[in-house]
Amino acid sequence: MATDHAALLEILQSADQGHIYHFYERLSAPQRQSLDAQVAAIDWTLVSELIKTVVHKPAPFVLPPDVQPAPYFANKPADGSLRDQYSMARQRGQTLLREGKIAAFVVAGGQGTRLGWSGPKGTFPATPVKHKSLFQCFVEHLKALEARFHTTIPFYVMTSSVNHHATVEFFKQNQFFSMPENHIMFFSQDMLPAVGLDGKVLLESPESMALSPNGHGGSLLALHKSGALTDMRHRGITQISYFQVDNPIVRCIDPLFIGLHDMQDADMSSKMLPKEFGKEKLGNFCLVDGKVTVIEYSDLPDDLSEQRLPDGQLRFRAGSIALHAIRRSFVEQLNAHGFALPYHRAEKKVPYIDLATGEKIEPQKTNAVKMETFVFDALPLAGKSIIYETDRLDEFAPIKQAQGVDSPASSCDVTTRRNAQWISAAGVKVPIKPDGSPHAVIEISASFALTREDVVDNYTKIPPIAPGDRVYLE
Ligand code: UTP
Repeated sequence: MATDHAALLEILQSADQGHIYHFYERLSAPQRQSLDAQVAAIDWTLVSELIKTVVHKPAPFVLPPDVQPAPYFANKPADGSLRDQYSMARQRGQTLLREGKIAAFVVAGGQGTRLGWSGPKGTFPATPVKHKSLFQCFVEHLKALEARFHTTIPFYVMTSSVNHHATVEFFKQNQFFSMPENHIMFFSQDMLPAVGLDGKVLLESPESMALSPNGHGGSLLALHKSGALTDMRHRGITQISYFQVDNPIVRCIDPLFIGLHDMQDADMSSKMLPKEFGKEKLGNFCLVDGKVTVIEYSDLPDDLSEQRLPDGQLRFRAGSIALHAIRRSFVEQLNAHGFALPYHRAEKKVPYIDLATGEKIEPQKTNAVKMETFVFDALPLAGKSIIYETDRLDEFAPIKQAQGVDSPASSCDVTTRRNAQWISAAGVKVPIKPDGSPHAVIEISASFALTREDVVDNYTKIPPIAPGDRVYLE
């Protein structure tokens, strides 16, 4: 990799991007160094290729000729044999945990623009009573599993250069939430520049390109490049439990799901939720040429997304919530042979420096293309891939945007409703408002319960709940 300025300039000029050094002469020595380092970190052969294709000639989505709904394992086993299989799968998952063979992996490199939080999204105070950060929720969940199974669960946190430093600092300030520091590994994914519609990379400032992370699909490469896979191999990890940073009630590791995936010899598996309506903004799990493939909600034609079975259920009902179980050896194989996930085009308004005037322009309309890969595009590369249905209320309270659907308020609301349901099912009365929602705010820490069954086991420790109470169970 070239690092000296002259060589980098040559690379840029041959990629027709020499303008990135437009302001170079005016920069201070540290600014020059920083811009050179940015340029050196980019794969310009890839960028040139993406400009030719994704920017100038984006391939329209073509629906494959034969798209079928992907089969899945139902949340509630319908018959005795499936019940036995689930029970064996849960045991398998628990054994893997006990043997220290499962790693937790959170992808936290995104920019979180829709939420508009100033720090990394994982530092967002997410829980309804104690306002614990998302990262704290995950570590507490893992520590509760460690205590229960007398094991160690290494935690891999993928960041990007937009939030790496702030993420690591946040963990340090919080003493890693009492997880031994050497059980947590932070590493960054690659970045890609935003490109103007004319094919020129945009500058965010005279000394910096407008860079953004290369999508959560970049995690599969970052695991390899960062040495995380090697670290996992040394620790004896065989399975990776992959989740996103935005869901405070996610089961960071679900023994049943990961056990099922392991027992089925799957390479990469997924959890799904039945969609509430045809066009719900979740990717659709489909079968294309016999391979599990996610088709984005915007790409599945209405006649398929709205199609219903005679019993009234959506035919394509399995929606992706970005929870995966991934065999470590599968990620190794992908990287050993060199793999390429497709790049998706996102048109965005990206502020940029006008080269003629040096002024910062805040565009009023779309002016740029960002290029991202998606982790679910690795599913068709898997030898085998299974899907397991989960319960929406049990583990899906995402925080995506500041207000409305998938906001902090809706997430706290779902969390309280879930907790109220778990507590009521354990036989403890929860006051209810006239609209049927809980008349209390309830938070359950991972040390108290990881599942609804744990609440039943601990029900004697739950105090009486009066209308309007704020209850924290630990
Ligand atoms: P989102 O699709 O919600 O994107 O990411 P985002 O960047 O976090 O938020 P917006 O779209 O700017 O509002 C889903 C998950 O994938 C991770 C995010 O951190 C989140 O956990 N992600 C996304 C990455 O790790 N890297 C990326 O390049 C993109």
